[in-house]
Amino acid sequence: MKKIVILISGRGSNMEAIVRAGLPAQIVSVVSNRADAAGLKFAAQEGIPTQVVDERQSSTREAFESALANAIDRHAPDFVALAGFMRVLGADFVRRYSGRMVNIHPSLLPAFPGLHTHRRALQEGVKLHGCTAHFVTPQVDHGPIIVQAAVPVRAGDTEAALAARVLRQEHRIYPLAVRWLVEGRLVVENGLVRVNGNDAKQSFLAEE
Ligand code: GRF
Repeated sequence: MKKIVILISGRGSNMEAIVRAGLPAQIVSVVSNRADAAGLKFAAQEGIPTQVVDERQSSTREAFESALANAIDRHAPDFVALAGFMRVLGADFVRRYSGRMVNIHPSLLPAFPGLHTHRRALQEGVKLHGCTAHFVTPQVDHGPIIVQAAVPVRAGDTEAALAARVLRQEHRIYPLAVRWLVEGRLVVENGLVRVNGNDAKQSFLAEE
């Protein structure tokens, strides 16, 4: 069975969605950069080994990332899934897990990389918003796209309402992307992802 380490910083609902999806993979550890990440509790209840690599205990980014890599590598995972992990990772760290590390981002990339995506989508007046599961590359929120889900913006939407609808779609597409990853069905060529198999048409989902 393929082994996955999931990195979180907070609530951990995407991590929870991956765990609940019952993928043909073993979640060998959930690692947080914050001791107070709420998601750690769920992981522990599920019997998944948890670890905290407290960023405040490392004086430099290099020291933090080296501690983080140690926490990951002791489980020798095949894949690393970032799930609401709110630290920008340096190029060396990202290259270490090249082709093996994925992320979920709450926008239709390449639109709205970075933070506050829902607020920015509302400010720009986009009619279609959504989320993206993608491979992680050194350029933040920019790697090869695996799956996207579209969420129409409604008149009168608030940031919170839009975020909640996008989050529901994150919980659909991220486990799907991780499933394809562990099943070895994702091929990256020239920065583009091809999904082998019958349900590859699900690379684009729309809010139901
Ligand atoms: C999600 O919207 C994710 O896309 C973003 O941060 C949020 C984390 O939520 N990067 P959770 O911790 O998975 O509940």
